[in-house]
Amino acid sequence: MTVDLDWENLGFSYHKLPFRYISYFKNGQWDEGQLTEDATLHISESSPALHYGQQAFEGLKAYRTKTNEIQLFRPDKNAQRLQKTAERLLMPKVSTEKFIDAVKKVVKANADFVPPYGTGATLYLRPLLIGVGDVIGVKPATEYIFTVFAMPVGNYFKGGLAPTNFIVSEDYDRAAPYGTGAAKVGGNYAGSLLPGQTAHSEGYSDVIYLDPATHTKIEEVGSANFFGISKDNEFVTPLSPSILPSITKYSLLQLAEERLGLKPVEGDVPVEQLDRFVEAGACGTAAIISPIGGIQYKGKRHVFYSETEVGPVTKRLYNELVGIQFGDVEAPEGWIVKVD
Ligand code: PLP
Ligand code: COI
Repeated sequence: MTVDLDWENLGFSYHKLPFRYISYFKNGQWDEGQLTEDATLHISESSPALHYGQQAFEGLKAYRTKTNEIQLFRPDKNAQRLQKTAERLLMPKVSTEKFIDAVKKVVKANADFVPPYGTGATLYLRPLLIGVGDVIGVKPATEYIFTVFAMPVGNYFKGGLAPTNFIVSEDYDRAAPYGTGAAKVGGNYAGSLLPGQTAHSEGYSDVIYLDPATHTKIEEVGSANFFGISKDNEFVTPLSPSILPSITKYSLLQLAEERLGLKPVEGDVPVEQLDRFVEAGACGTAAIISPIGGIQYKGKRHVFYSETEVGPVTKRLYNELVGIQFGDVEAPEGWIVKVD
């Protein structure tokens, strides 16, 4: 059973659901963790998460299949990435087992809000790890909270599978060469708010950032990774230590090769050589695959396949990925975890 919501027009916004999971780290260890109906966090005013950004988050989705089962897409990868982020920010790790158990508990408790199959909507899960407690010097917290909450979502970019345009930021970087770009920390996103707002006000879906050292190569979108399909049937994505290693992107690299016969390439994507691509897109959990119609750079618009129609390779990749996520297409081993 599901509740009655306008599933086709959800967009990507916060919706308070009945249950979330919370676990506390104190005296060097995590407690059991439990579901709670309290959607408010009660934390010290001096929590390092608030002052020094000692916090990390994740994003993954639960999908309802045609046979009314609920499943997760590669949650172990989100757990591992949160562990890497925790290492970078000196936070205690959440084990993969605890992470997946928390996610499953939240999905099960809010199962009525997992959108019906066929609506395209999903239940978005937001795991969050924050340093809390009474610390005021610039040092790691001694206490932490790990919480997972959820909400039903639709499209992140308003176009869905219709292409939208993006703009290259010439004034701002997302991350520093040896900074925290590869970690999923809030600070990366705080810095992207201003360029993001400017891009939106000019009608672009989001910002494309260049490599912070030379400003010549595409790094990623503010909320997703970038990919291009070359004239030579390559699936190309930037390789850089300052971009977020997208689970969707690594899944697509594999699917492009194994299912579509494309050559997977991770490498430099010079912003002056966009002509090599016949199609381009943004990929991520929230973005899924969002086709990029055109990229605005130095006052000029570079259009890939079309500003109004999704390209054929992007469409095939989308069908493969989304088919796997909703259980309609056979998944590579280990990619799907059932919530029973
Ligand atoms: N890049 C950024 C900056 C993101 O915020 C996200 C979203 O998680 C991604 C890429 C895509 O990563 P994933 O496919 O793991 O969701
Ligand atoms: C995700 O795709 O899960 C993200 O975290 C992107 C976020 C900016 C919504």
